[in-house]
Amino acid sequence: MTLHSLIDVLPKAELHLHIEGTLEPEMMLALAKRNGVELPYNSVAEVQAAYEFDCLQDFLDVYYQGMSVLINERDFYDLTMAYLEKVHGQGVRHVEIFFDPQAHMERGVAFETVLGGISSALETAGREMDMTSKLIMCFLRHLDEEDAFGALNCACKHKEHIYAVGLDSSEAGRPPELFSRVFAKARAQGFKAVAHAGEEGPAAYIETALDDLKVSRVDHGNRAFENPALVARMAAEQMPLTMCPLSNLRLKGITDLKEHPIKKALNAGLLATVNSDDPSYFGGYVNENYKQVADAVGLTGEDIVTLAKNSFKASFQSPSEKQAYL
Ligand code: ADE
Ligand code: ZN
Repeated sequence: MTLHSLIDVLPKAELHLHIEGTLEPEMMLALAKRNGVELPYNSVAEVQAAYEFDCLQDFLDVYYQGMSVLINERDFYDLTMAYLEKVHGQGVRHVEIFFDPQAHMERGVAFETVLGGISSALETAGREMDMTSKLIMCFLRHLDEEDAFGALNCACKHKEHIYAVGLDSSEAGRPPELFSRVFAKARAQGFKAVAHAGEEGPAAYIETALDDLKVSRVDHGNRAFENPALVARMAAEQMPLTMCPLSNLRLKGITDLKEHPIKKALNAGLLATVNSDDPSYFGGYVNENYKQVADAVGLTGEDIVTLAKNSFKASFQSPSEKQAYL
């Protein structure tokens, strides 16, 4: 069996996926029409031409503009169903999906509209495709603590649908510890915690995500390798890393996929996983991430099996749910 067909058939979990980042240009244009939203693009080619990014902020500007077409519960349902159907065909059996309610609430879309559409789609996928899921509500770190507390108060009314909180958006100059109090309250309310750290920000942000936010996983974490003691600590703690190779390439964290630290992470004994982040914007869903990084850094079949197993080990599934895949 070739490496690529192994990747196709292995059961996998996806743990780092922003649902708003799955908005394909065709759906963006269709929803703009359905909802009467003005976009600066008139064709798929024009949308795609905007997907040239020099850094995370370049991407975020386009990402927040793109999501302005999501208005009604049905839009969030259609978006989520399209993603789930796509990755079900790639062997994904469990998903832990991020969503960004503050980015919708600030445009006048109610928290319940967003959550209702996404969670109904997750329920449909559970029923019809036997896919399991968890939902992770992210705080936007470019906004202040008070705004994050507002989102947390909304989440507290819907604990049956939201399993964990996360931290995303512009990382530079916005260290995790700015949100220590929000995360403390979220954990006290029973939510698990994860955070983007070390994507563009320094290794020190990974340390404060661990120590101050008390996260159960680090999203990206690429810059951990600047601090060998931190890598040793994360290996000892088996702290999961949700890595996203094509995202790192497209946002210029690396200039060539050959530089991606996924193999280094496995060699260091880290619980590393492969994910797609924002697949519509970065040119590939989870299997394209596996395949392209495998070819670039020379992953073996054994590495691929380890990464797929790691995706379940690092998930929020119960030990008995995980066992079926290990
Ligand atoms: N929001 C969506 N994608 C993101 C990323 N890669 N980093 C930070 N925030 C994000
Ligand atoms: Zn991300």
